[in-house]
Amino acid sequence: MREIAVFGGSSHPALTAEICAHLAVPQRPVLLKRFANDCLEVQLQSNCRERDVFIIQSLVRPVQENLVELLLMADAARGASAARVNAVIPHYAYARSDKKDAPRISIGGRLVADLLVTAGVDRVLTLNLHSPQVHGFFSVPVDHLHALRELAAHFRQRDLSNAVVVSPDLGYAKSAAAFARRLGLPVAAGAKERMSDSEVRIAAIIGDVAGRDVIVLDDEISRGTTVFELLDRLREQGARSVAVACTHGLFADNALDKLAAADDVTEIVCTNSAPLEAEHPKLTVLSVAPALAEAISRIHNGESVSSLFDH
Ligand code: R5P
Repeated sequence: MREIAVFGGSSHPALTAEICAHLAVPQRPVLLKRFANDCLEVQLQSNCRERDVFIIQSLVRPVQENLVELLLMADAARGASAARVNAVIPHYAYARSDKKDAPRISIGGRLVADLLVTAGVDRVLTLNLHSPQVHGFFSVPVDHLHALRELAAHFRQRDLSNAVVVSPDLGYAKSAAAFARRLGLPVAAGAKERMSDSEVRIAAIIGDVAGRDVIVLDDEISRGTTVFELLDRLREQGARSVAVACTHGLFADNALDKLAAADDVTEIVCTNSAPLEAEHPKLTVLSVAPALAEAISRIHNGESVSSLFDH
């Protein structure tokens, strides 16, 4: 069996360390240099020859810096004769750029997938892509995990006798339904339309939320525009309380504090797919390191990954 070699980019060192601890393997050192002209250079400081190399890098702010770093690390691993280069991308930022919905716009989700392959990535392990079809942008194998197991385990500790799961949009309703099934709950969904990065409209909620304890489930919270708009509709329809859950807690523009300030929001739950700068007593962060480590171990050993993480 080829040796495993795990390297981490600089986007999320805490998650890399936790994954390595679960795998019981050392984290291999990386030297990152920035030249006077602002160009980056990466040196992997451990032997890659004929190794099964895993590079862990979440595409979080500063996204472009972290992306280039990941591309350079993949290039360095390939150039150092790695047997296989696996990119572990807990948050794939460009997934929201997945269609041509305005004239002359770029489709970053596809471009970044191509860049990764060009840089030498043979395989991708990622978590909760914005939409499942982004998987199809990759010309190499992708193991696409979700965090429904972790989120459901958290909510099973709560009194769910009056609860309903609500997806903010119809696009995520399938995942919300899978999550609701795990908890034995009904599901509802918002009819959402996004006008811009900072403006969304939810015209109606399909399903019954009056008097219920709502668990909002989304793939990510960025500015919180979606969840604030949904909160307005839920209040209008008489929801009793709201817990907000997502995989990627990006919390741009102070969204965490703004959301936590709402009296009817009882808790906010996310995973550590992105590093969190802020903390709040209403916030619970669930670790995806055990799931990612298990998937890495299965990929390395040629075992089934899907059987572990099926809906
Ligand atoms: C978008 O359609 C996603 O499912 C999320 O609802 C969105 O990315 C959240 O972004 P924001 O918090 O800025 O509305």
